[in-house]
Amino acid sequence: MNSSKPKLRAVHGAGDWLPDSWQRRPAAQQPTYDDPAELADALARLRGLPPLVTSWEVLGLKRLLAEAQEGRRFLLQGGDCAESFADCTSEVIANRLKVLLQMSLVLIHGLRVPVVRVGRFAGQYAKPRSADSETRDGVSLPSYRGDLINGPAFDAAARRADPQRLLEAHARSAMTMNFVRALGEGGFADLRHPEYWDLTWVEHSPLAAEYRRMVASIGGAVRFMETLAGEAIASFSRAEFFTSHEALLLHYEEAQTRRVPRQWGWFNLSTHFPWIGMRTAGVDGAHVEYCRGIRNPVAVKIGPSMGDAQLQRLVEMLNPDNEPGRLTLIHRMGARKVAEHLPRMLAAVQATGLRVLWCCDPMHGNTETVGNGVKTRRFANIRSELELAFDIHAAAGTRLGGVHLELTGEDVTECMGGARGLGEGDLSRAYKSSVDPRLNYEQALELAMLIVRKSGGIAAA
Ligand code: PEP
Ligand code: CO
Repeated sequence: MNSSKPKLRAVHGAGDWLPDSWQRRPAAQQPTYDDPAELADALARLRGLPPLVTSWEVLGLKRLLAEAQEGRRFLLQGGDCAESFADCTSEVIANRLKVLLQMSLVLIHGLRVPVVRVGRFAGQYAKPRSADSETRDGVSLPSYRGDLINGPAFDAAARRADPQRLLEAHARSAMTMNFVRALGEGGFADLRHPEYWDLTWVEHSPLAAEYRRMVASIGGAVRFMETLAGEAIASFSRAEFFTSHEALLLHYEEAQTRRVPRQWGWFNLSTHFPWIGMRTAGVDGAHVEYCRGIRNPVAVKIGPSMGDAQLQRLVEMLNPDNEPGRLTLIHRMGARKVAEHLPRMLAAVQATGLRVLWCCDPMHGNTETVGNGVKTRRFANIRSELELAFDIHAAAGTRLGGVHLELTGEDVTECMGGARGLGEGDLSRAYKSSVDPRLNYEQALELAMLIVRKSGGIAAA
């Protein structure tokens, strides 16, 4: 069905679009490489490497997102703000998967719909920055833009944009993918053994007790169904994970944009689900131009500063054919602004007649700096934005079909509040993020439980 190209109005490699068309547009948030020949050589090698995902998976995810758009699934997208090369370890990857698995189980159980699990991993190595350079004690150096580009240490060698990092990022992403796929296939994700998903450091959590009660009831249901079927049901031992990252460094994305046999058009095969960040969502900019032409499902982060006309233009450019599952809009307004801006945005998109999947990122509009300059987020604000978003969608007749979170399976104290009531004084205890503050396991699980409470009617609606 996908092998012959349908008649489309504008997108997907139609007209004059090519993977490098973005180079004729203003490209925000790109580093300066000081040796063009070295960059060209690294990109040539990247183009020759095998892809990280396949076109079948990409189109499969698009179908699942189309179902989420219809309210028949719920999207759970989560992971670190930024991956680092150093955190490409067995423990960090497995713990992150455990949290996502546990959250998805809570959501499936409570919402009575399947969950589409999408990680912010295997490529989330580039970060937008508010300034191109950083000055310390009179010394100015290029800003740290993520491990895909340069290093965080404040010295000239580390901060140089190094093309070799493109290949290193591809390799680390492939190792991450490989481990995630293996864990998802085998016993690790087995519903009959959810104890494999437990994180050792949370044994005494009050939420863990509630979670285990739910798991016990699921265990009973699984045994019942297998008894009824008279055999083990294979799908109970597998969990599917898709990957996503911000498509920020366009040379990296372009080098992994490929044609494949028996499919028309172009696919970004570095990830299933690239997204455009809030700072690079200009309709005339390079990032929108790039994403316009690929066949992957794409997402855009939208914030309170985006006007209605710009939003409508964005939706028309990225999904002119009203293709189900093609476009996800991730709103990230902040608890104080969501009531003012989300209703007008929902109305603006409704007026285009084009369908999208709506997803809420309650993290990025709620970042604040406390005391000695530490970046944090308050659980109460995250919760409030999410709950308001559900209400605003219900009032507008639209559907909130997913959440986008920054979280980790590590024992961190980066966001305040939540079940243990973390305060400002706790932040210094285990603050590990070099970029945005993440929910820890308990806070993430609590949020999943709150989503169920808030949107209990989703499946019935
Ligand atoms: C992010 O998701 O880490 C990010 C930078 O988000 P936004 O583009 O919404 O600010
Ligand atoms: Co972030």
